[in-house]
Formats: sequence, C-alpha cells, structure tokens
Amino acid sequence: MTSKDIRDKYIKFFTDKNHKQIPASKLVPENDPSTLFTSSGMQPLVPYLLGQQHPEGKRLVNSQPSFRAEDIEEVGDNRHTTFFEMLGNWSLGDYWKKEQLEYFLKFLTEELGLEKERLYVSVFEGNSDIPKDEESQEIWKSLGINEDHIYFYGAEENWWSRSGPPEKMPEGEIGGPDSEVFYDFFPDDEFKEDLKVYSHNGRLLEIGNSVFMQYQKTKDGFKELPQKNVDFGGGLERLTAAANKNPDIFKTDLYENIIKEIESASDKSYEDEVNKALMQVIADHLKAAVFLIADGVLPSNKLQGYVLRRLIRRSAVKMHQLGGGLTPLPGFGGIAESVLTTYDGVLLDRHTLRDNVDKVIREELNRFGDSLDKALKEIEKIQNIDGKKAFDLYQTFGFPYEVTEELFRQKGQEIDRESFKAEFEKHRNLSRTASAGMFKGGLADHSETVTKYHTATHLLHQALRDVLGPEVFQKGSNITTDRLRFDFSFQRKATDGEIKKVEDLVNQRIKEDLKVDHMIISLEEAKGMNAIGLFNEKYADKVSIYGIGPNFTLDPDALDQRNRSGYYSAEFCGGPHVEHTNVIGKISIVKEEAISAGIRRIRAEIVLN
Ligand code: ALA
Repeated sequence: MTSKDIRDKYIKFFTDKNHKQIPASKLVPENDPSTLFTSSGMQPLVPYLLGQQHPEGKRLVNSQPSFRAEDIEEVGDNRHTTFFEMLGNWSLGDYWKKEQLEYFLKFLTEELGLEKERLYVSVFEGNSDIPKDEESQEIWKSLGINEDHIYFYGAEENWWSRSGPPEKMPEGEIGGPDSEVFYDFFPDDEFKEDLKVYSHNGRLLEIGNSVFMQYQKTKDGFKELPQKNVDFGGGLERLTAAANKNPDIFKTDLYENIIKEIESASDKSYEDEVNKALMQVIADHLKAAVFLIADGVLPSNKLQGYVLRRLIRRSAVKMHQLGGGLTPLPGFGGIAESVLTTYDGVLLDRHTLRDNVDKVIREELNRFGDSLDKALKEIEKIQNIDGKKAFDLYQTFGFPYEVTEELFRQKGQEIDRESFKAEFEKHRNLSRTASAGMFKGGLADHSETVTKYHTATHLLHQALRDVLGPEVFQKGSNITTDRLRFDFSFQRKATDGEIKKVEDLVNQRIKEDLKVDHMIISLEEAKGMNAIGLFNEKYADKVSIYGIGPNFTLDPDALDQRNRSGYYSAEFCGGPHVEHTNVIGKISIVKEEAISAGIRRIRAEIVLN
C-alpha cells in the first residue's frame, strides 16, 4: 500500500463521515510569531478549539506537513524525523471519545488491514487535577482491544499540549489527556512485561494519537473549555510502515527514492548498518530543507533561517562521513530533486520550485565550504583541544563535534567528550528557555501589535496592487511584534517614488479609519467580489473573508477593477484583525529587496506618529 493510497483513504474515510477537508498550512506560520514552525495539524486551529466558529463547521480533516526542530538530535534510527506529514481529524465540540476511538480503529483495521491483535493502546492514568480516563479504557475494551493491551500512563506519556505535560504549560494554553495506539511489528517475539509500550523500542511504533482537548490552563488551575474537542494526529510515514509491515519508515515510498539517490551519490549501501543512520539523517534533513525553502525560508543566523542552515550543514557533514573524507561530495542537487519528485503534485510543485531549491542549497554548501576551511585552519593552530574549544568550533563554524573528534583522533589527540557535552547541554538549555519564551501566552500570539501588523499587511497588499499593478500578488508574509515582512510577485525593483506612494497610500487608508468586516461566505460569493489572497480553493465550500473599508468612496476609475465589492481590500484570511484602521497608527517601509527571481520582499514597521 502506498503512502498516497493511505493519505487518500484517510481523507475519504473522514469526508464520508461529514468532515470537511481543510487546506494544509504553511510550515512557517504566517501570523503567529509565538512559534517558529507548524509542528502539528492543530496549531492553526487553536482559535476554533477555543470556541470560535470555523467556516467549515465542526468536523475537519487534513494532511499537514509538520516540522519539529527539537527532534533534530533524535534522527538516525528507523522512526524519528524532524519533518513528517500528519494526518489529522478534528471534532470542534461535536463527537467525543467513543466516536473518535471507533473511527480510528476502523480506519486501521478496515482501511489499512492492520490486525486488531497487534495493536496496543495507552490511556491517561489521571493526576490530582484530572481524573483517570476509564471512559477510554471501557471504549477500547468494547471495541475488542484485549484488556492486557491497554496500558495506563501518567501525564509524561498520555497528556498532550503544545508545550508538553501540565506543569510545563503556560497560562492560557490548551491541552488534555490522550490515547495513543501502537503497532506491534514482531508479534511472534515473547512480549516482555517490562516493555513499556510508549518506549518506541523499535518493536512497537506509535501510529496515532487522539487528544481529548478539553482543558485550558488558568492561573487557578485547569478549567474546562467551552466545548469538548478531539484533536487527532497520526504520522503518515509510520502508518505507511505499519500497513507494509516494515518498521523502518525509510523503507516506505516516502523515502525510497531519496535513499536511492543518497546511495548513488555516496556509492554506499543503506543495507550496510554503518551507513544507515547517516543516510537517515541526510534523507530527513534534506527533505525538511526542501520544504522550508519551498515556504520561503533562506539560510541565515536567525530563527527559521538558522534551523535551515543547520539542516543543510549537518547533512553535508554526514555526507562527508559517509564518503569517509572531508571534501564536499556532490549529489545534493539530485537528492533535493528526489524530494521534489516524491511530493510533486501532492505537497510540492517540482517545476516551479526546483531552480530555487537547487540554488539555495548550493549557495549554502559553498558558504559552509568556506567555514569548513576556516575551521580546519583554526584546528591546525590549536594545540590541545578541550570540550569548550570543540564546542566553540561547533558554535562558530557549525562544525559538528563528531567531525572535530574524528580529526583529532587522526592527529593523535582525544577530546574530552564529557566537557563538550556539558557545554552543549548548557547551550541547549539556554535555547530551550529561549524557545519556551516564544510561547508567550501559549496561544497563537494574537497580541494587539501583531493584529495591527496583520491589518496593515492587507492594506499594503492592496496599495502595492494599486501602485504597481494587479500582477502584484502575495507570496508570503511574516509578522513579529517588531515588524511585518511581505513577499510579493513583481519583476523589477520598485522605485523609491513608488515605494513612497505605497507607504503614503497605506497611511492614508489608516487615517481614513476604514472599518474592517469579517464574513463567512460561499466560495462563489467570494469569487464574485474578487477577494484576493493566498487560498487553496480546492476543498472549501465556505470561506472566511476580511473586507476593509465598506464606506470607502474612491473615484470608481481608480478602484481596482477586480474588487467590485466596494471594499478597499477584500482578502481570504482567517484573521484576526483590528476593527477599524486608525488604531494602527502609522507605518514606515524600511526596506524593499529581491529575495528570488520575480519575488520582492518589503519590511515595514509601525512608527510613532
Ligand atoms: N496534536 C496531537 C499531536 O501532535 C494530535 O500528537
């Protein structure tokens, strides 16, 4: 069974049960500076899990590309990746535990043909705030799961929120107990009683997690959300592995050709145990890199760009190790191309992406080649390298520890691994604290400033079209509390005069204090009013539109002919926005530059009047 069969079956299974398929979100969230990446299908749905009405109703399904940077060090076995595709279904205050567990079990057994006897499940054992989940236990039993295949665990294992167990959740964050399902790949082996089903020991693999998203953390403890939600996620890679009875996800069609490319680039075999982990890292990291580049990320020393840099450099080093030398090996172009081919027409468009992907990876490898040289010279100079120095090389040049260690062994030196590890842990804790800090209230950051920037982005989009022409179209957007960044299609550099005009126009609309309206209407109606924006219209019946300025009276000749609604701007968008424009203040465009062929980027800031 191919991954495509499984993805299609899953979507059909749930749309047949009145779920609406919603488009996947980008890997880099556009208007949510509280987190760097989309790491789960529920992330864009937080406002709806909290009770806001979703335009598609109460039952949703999709397949969401997800990225978990925190798992980078785990990659290198049969089951861990940073990038994966999460099949997800949601009940927004509609069905509850019984239906969810029944649906998922039916999907596994009837659609994928998995044997019920080879499934193990875990449920929440309860704590001082939240009761033991006996309800799920009873449901599993009634569905024919053997009692001795049902395990109770605490919050470390059977509680899910974006920030982990209850004590780690910030105020405002939502979460709840969950029930995980595991597939046994080797049922004929003796089952040892001390085998924890969650320990992912290679025999059992978690293939799905039903979260009963029912609670919100407050300063006085947990309170019930206004509705009981189900948030389900299952990794397509692992489900495909289970359906094909091979516990190595790198043997599925989602990796098969990528591994083949790595084999041919390195002239080594995946079947050889010494190469396996290296190839798994390269396959995962370059796949993740391609997806990040497709979403507009460029290697840099900050935020998402830094993660992308690390992925590419780490793959380069693993490739060196695979080849046994330190000269960069060719072949990354071919590997990236095989990622594009694997997902062509499903999640990626090979044709439009390939040149850019190739260029970004090549340029980063060239840069890394330079720092490799510098690092090597540095190493030559150092007489005794201790853990701290090895860590500095790692920090400064992206020069991985394993390589430093290998080189000194060649020079007859040993590095103190423990002191390197201590430095590394210190750093890791610091960056964990930094990324935890990004979670602010726990919710997607709908703070006042971000909301202002978001509305300003819509005004900017329309103003660019007014000044430069209707060929201008949004290609990406990113907002933090300090600035907005807006990428758009345009073939040449805008002149200073044009940029000034755009800025003036946005500020004029802000001053006119236009009203911002939200409407949930049919796709037909939205098309009729020529609403613009990034929207995947394949799936939706009802869409969410924000219109700015219904009372706006402009010379009809100057009005963008595509927007006949009378709104100055009308866009497909999930919000949130300010209610009227003059609260934004005043914006200033601080930069306009090219980011790739035909794509420009504007950076704008809200300034004091
Ligand atoms: N949001 C849940 C998870 O990521 C389903 O496991």
